[in-house]
Amino acid sequence: MTDGNARRTIWPAGNGAVDIIDQTTLPHACATRRLATVADVAEAIAVMRVRGAPLIGATAAYGMAIAADADPSEAALKAAHDRLLATRPTAVNLAWALTRVLERLTPLPAAERAGAAWAEADAVADEDVALNAAIGDHGLTLIEAAHARNPDRPVNVLTHCNAGWLATVGWGTATAPVYKAHAAGIPVHVWVDETRPRNQGASLTAWELAEAGVPHTLIADNAGGHLMRRGQVDLCITGTDRTAANGDVCNKIGTYLKALAAHDNGVPFYVALPSPTLDLALPSGDAVPIEERAAEEVTWIPGRTADGRVETVRITGAGTPAANPAFDVTPARLVTALVTERGIVEPHRLREVFGALEAAS
Ligand code: MRU
Repeated sequence: MTDGNARRTIWPAGNGAVDIIDQTTLPHACATRRLATVADVAEAIAVMRVRGAPLIGATAAYGMAIAADADPSEAALKAAHDRLLATRPTAVNLAWALTRVLERLTPLPAAERAGAAWAEADAVADEDVALNAAIGDHGLTLIEAAHARNPDRPVNVLTHCNAGWLATVGWGTATAPVYKAHAAGIPVHVWVDETRPRNQGASLTAWELAEAGVPHTLIADNAGGHLMRRGQVDLCITGTDRTAANGDVCNKIGTYLKALAAHDNGVPFYVALPSPTLDLALPSGDAVPIEERAAEEVTWIPGRTADGRVETVRITGAGTPAANPAFDVTPARLVTALVTERGIVEPHRLREVFGALEAAS
């Protein structure tokens, strides 16, 4: 989790399987689940037992290792790649990880592929932890600066969705600077957007901040603008599922509205991302595929009853139609800077700082 080792969201379980924290049971129970087949992995990503761009990528990489154990032929690996790629469209880390593992395996003799696939998946996971720790170090400077400006009160950070350690293999992206600040003794308080309709803020971010002992307050999605107008937000930090070459940022639905409110109120709006979330082949955010999820995620809501049962209840009339676009794009002009493993990067400098990655791909 936050020290990079103590607890991860995914880990090899031996015998050709991986274990995950099943995020569909949080915050009411922290359960693990074994994934032993490509079908298990595809299901876990599609129904969001694992979610968050970096974790989706790492899980898919392990899915390729599971596939290589079962059948290391080129045809079988390509089929596994395609099946996993079809699970969720928006986070580019999925395609990035699948391509990385497939390109590593294809030149090898079939007998060497399974071993190489597990090693590559482990490398994807380990690198994710290291990238996020570096993001934390760079983001910490922003929180330190905010604290220096107002030393008499906690630094108030607003975040949207869950870009915490649960969304990654460890540390989180948006939360890494917060965890580092908390560990450094800087008083920090997080406004946690509930993040309808799946409520990743309410059920995941609030849970992990509570576990880490970081002061936080859950707010309804519509409250952020009000708090910004009243000077109660020092900075916003969110994650991203895909960031285009011009610095347009695609993230969980509702991020755009927070960025607009931040812009209007002079609140800095930062987006934390590891380089595998960059899609430099996309000139702008307009071309990001936006996932449309089931209407039932809007019209029904899960929760725990007073007697301890977890149930899902309908919150609308039976016939109410609903739309559920799961992500939106925040234009680069509303993004103060990107917090990356290479430092704090203004959107227009993305190509300058990361262009070599594009050339290499
Ligand atoms: O639908 P989800 O829960 O996978 O969406 C997650 C987000 O939007 C996160 O903010 C994003 O993946 C960044 S995670 C470090």
